[in-house]
Amino acid sequence: MWAHPISDSLLGLFLALWLTAGVLQPVSADDLARGAEIFEANCTTCHGPAGSPDADSPLVQSLGVMPANFSDALFNSREPASTWKMVVTYGGAEMGFSEMMPAFGGSLSEQDIDNVLAYIKTLGGEHDYPDGELNLFLPVRTKKAFPEDEWVWKQRYTGQDGDNAWKNTLEYEFRMGQRGQGIMEVTHEVEGSSSEFGHLEPGFKYVLKHDRRAGFILTGAAQVAVPLNHDANWEFLPYLAFGKILAPKWTLQGSGRLKLDLEDSDGSSAEFAGIVHWVHTDKGRAVFPALELVAEVPFERGTGPGRKDAVQVSALPQLRIGLNKRGNIALNAGVELPLNDRDRYDWRAYVYFIWDFADGGLLDGW
Ligand code: HEC
Repeated sequence: MWAHPISDSLLGLFLALWLTAGVLQPVSADDLARGAEIFEANCTTCHGPAGSPDADSPLVQSLGVMPANFSDALFNSREPASTWKMVVTYGGAEMGFSEMMPAFGGSLSEQDIDNVLAYIKTLGGEHDYPDGELNLFLPVRTKKAFPEDEWVWKQRYTGQDGDNAWKNTLEYEFRMGQRGQGIMEVTHEVEGSSSEFGHLEPGFKYVLKHDRRAGFILTGAAQVAVPLNHDANWEFLPYLAFGKILAPKWTLQGSGRLKLDLEDSDGSSAEFAGIVHWVHTDKGRAVFPALELVAEVPFERGTGPGRKDAVQVSALPQLRIGLNKRGNIALNAGVELPLNDRDRYDWRAYVYFIWDFADGGLLDGW
C-alpha cells in the first residue's frame, strides 16, 4: 500500500471537523435571561436564589429531602440536562426522585423548560468537569471515555466444545479532581477444574478533551495488570477512548488499546472497538439496544494450521437494561460472535451489573 499524504490529511481534517461539530444549539443570552426569570418565579423558594437551597428555611425543611444544589459544580456538571428535563417536566417521581419536586410540564412551555435548564447549568460557575451529557452507556469491550463513579461486576462465559470458561471482573472507578479517574479491577476465572484470580489492574484515566456542545469527549488511560497466579503475566494496558453524540438518539464510542505482555511479547495485541447505541428515550428504566464491533491485532500470529488471522474480528450485539427509574442501576447483556478465526471460541456471553453510585444508593431511585 502506498501512503497518500493528501487524502490522509483530508481524512484527518474531515474527522476533526466531524468530531467537534456541534449537536447542541448554542444558548442565546436572551434564552438565559428568560431562564433566570423562570427560575426566580418558580424554583428559588426551594432551590435558593443562587441555586443552593437554604437549609434553615422552614419550607425547605418541610420537604423532608434536600432540593438539588445547582451551585455545586461537580453535581451540576455530572447530571445530564436531558435527565433534568424529565424531572422538571414530569416531576421528581418520574425519575425516582422525591415527589416534593413538582412537575412543570403543565405550567411551563417546553422552550421555557429548556431555558431554565440552560440557566441552572450556569449556576455551577466556571469549571472543567466534563458534562454528564457525555456520560454514555458503558459498553462491554469498548473503553469508556467519561470518568464516572461506579461499581461494575462483569461476567463473561465462553462457550467452546469441552473448554468452557467463566470469567468475573469487579471494577471500582472513582473521580479524582475535575478530569481524572482512578480505576481498580480484579479478575477471576473458572476453567475446567481450575478456579483462580487472574489479575489486579490498578489504573488512571484522564480526560484530554471535552466539549458538551460538540457532544464529544476524548480520554487517555493506562492500567497495569499485576498477576495473581503463576500462569498470568505482568501486562501494561494503555488506551485512548472517545465518545460522540451523533444525533439526539444516537451515540458512538470507540477505543484503541494496547495489551502489552511484559514477560512474553508474543502474547501482546492491539484491540480496537466501537459501539453505536440507540438512546430512544431519556427515561432511566428502559431497554437500549447497541451493536459493538471488535478488531484484535495479535503481535505474533504463530505458524502452521493454528496461525491467527492478522485482524480478528467479532460482533457483539447487546442490550442495556435500566433497572431503576434513575437508570443508574442497570444490567447489560450481550453475545459476542467471532466473524473470522472461528477457532478462538464459539460464542461468548457477557452480563454486567453497573451501579453509578454518584446518582444514588442501591436502594434509591426505584
Ligand atoms: C416545592 C419545592 C421545589 C420547587 C418549587 C422546585 N423544586 Fe426542584 N427539587 C425539589 C426537591 C425536594 C428535589 C430533590 C428530589 C430528590 O433528591 O429526591 C428537587 C430536584 C430537582 C432536580 C433534580 C436534580 C437531580 O438530583 O438530578 C431538578 C433538575 C430540579 N429540581 C429543578 C427544578 C426547577 C428547574 C424548578 C423550577 C422550575 C424546581 N426544581 C422547583 C424541590 C423543588
